[in-house]
Amino acid sequence: MNGYDSLQKFEVPEIIHGLGAMGIAGQCAKRLGGERVLLVTDPGVIHAGWVDEAVGYLRAEGLKYVVYDNVVTNPRDFHVEEGARVYEKQECDVIVAVGGGSPIDTAKGIAILVSNHGCIHDYEGCNLVTQPVPPLVCIPTTAGTGADVTQMAVVTHSEKRMKMVILGRAIMPEISLIDPRLLQTESSELIAATGMDTLTHAIEAYVSSLSWTLTDPHAIHAIELVSEHLVHAARYKDIKSLDGMSIACLEAGIAFSNAILGAVHALAHPLGGFYDIHHGLANAILLPTVVRRNMEYSLDKYARIARAMGVDTNGMSLETAASSSLLAITKLIEDLGLPSRLSEFNVNPDDISLLADLAKDDMCMRTNPYCYSKDEIETLYREAL
Ligand SMILES: [Fe+2]
Repeated sequence: MNGYDSLQKFEVPEIIHGLGAMGIAGQCAKRLGGERVLLVTDPGVIHAGWVDEAVGYLRAEGLKYVVYDNVVTNPRDFHVEEGARVYEKQECDVIVAVGGGSPIDTAKGIAILVSNHGCIHDYEGCNLVTQPVPPLVCIPTTAGTGADVTQMAVVTHSEKRMKMVILGRAIMPEISLIDPRLLQTESSELIAATGMDTLTHAIEAYVSSLSWTLTDPHAIHAIELVSEHLVHAARYKDIKSLDGMSIACLEAGIAFSNAILGAVHALAHPLGGFYDIHHGLANAILLPTVVRRNMEYSLDKYARIARAMGVDTNGMSLETAASSSLLAITKLIEDLGLPSRLSEFNVNPDDISLLADLAKDDMCMRTNPYCYSKDEIETLYREAL
């Protein structure tokens, strides 16, 4: 013990939320000293029309810009490297990311490489980014990852087919512009899957060994908002529900950026790297399995989660109240019509040993209420098959 082990911190970017927030993208980039913007996005966001609108706001402030859109789900190391070359060649000085977690994580990776150099693989782990990165403005188009308010990026190592978690204050975006209008072009399936990512962030942050006074209220409120709005948002895409989900995503992001995550994410990351399974879907499948096992290590917290999901736990024993969180989660997944088994994604039982090796070493496992052994992780994967 060095005397500092018990210190806790809380980091957030500048957050501007509300209908029309994207309209100040140009002002924000300019305020951060930018003259030439690298706008990182993906083809789907371009197709939805949001990039044209964002570019209009950059032009209105007299900013030059170049668009980098070679971004895929589960973003790859070589895309980050390609984007960094574009940034350098075009002599950009600020990055604006418009999109879901993939463009935002790609933008963070680009920011690391253009200022810290070397290979993106060098930065896997905690606080290995030592040089300040270019200013980053994020404009999320999904309510799921919360990457716009976190000090975390996940990039796929294409050769090893594994996801690398990069964590550190240096990659916290400067400004997040959260405009719920942008969620209207998400498909219902994507709203459901990304919403389950948000719920998983909130639950894992709440039961994390690093959770504390400043993260818990955000985590619990995010769980309440998901329970209230997610099914409606996925079915009807009305602006009230989407607005609710945008706040849920924001608060879950704030909570997990500071309290980190847990076993669901540790097990989901190898599935993304190996099988390219959508991150939100992998979480939705694994969440009930992990909650069932995690519960005994934090009964009171799972009982609180059940209440946040609308369960009346009055008169229940602590064990029953905690178990009711699992029932509420399972019902939500059913209501959303999401897949519930890994076998639906052709996960090969022969790969489970390798997947378990990767999950055991994943940074997110360290803050789970209980650190599972490789054998126990293999059992978790089998239960989810
Ligand atoms: Fe996530």
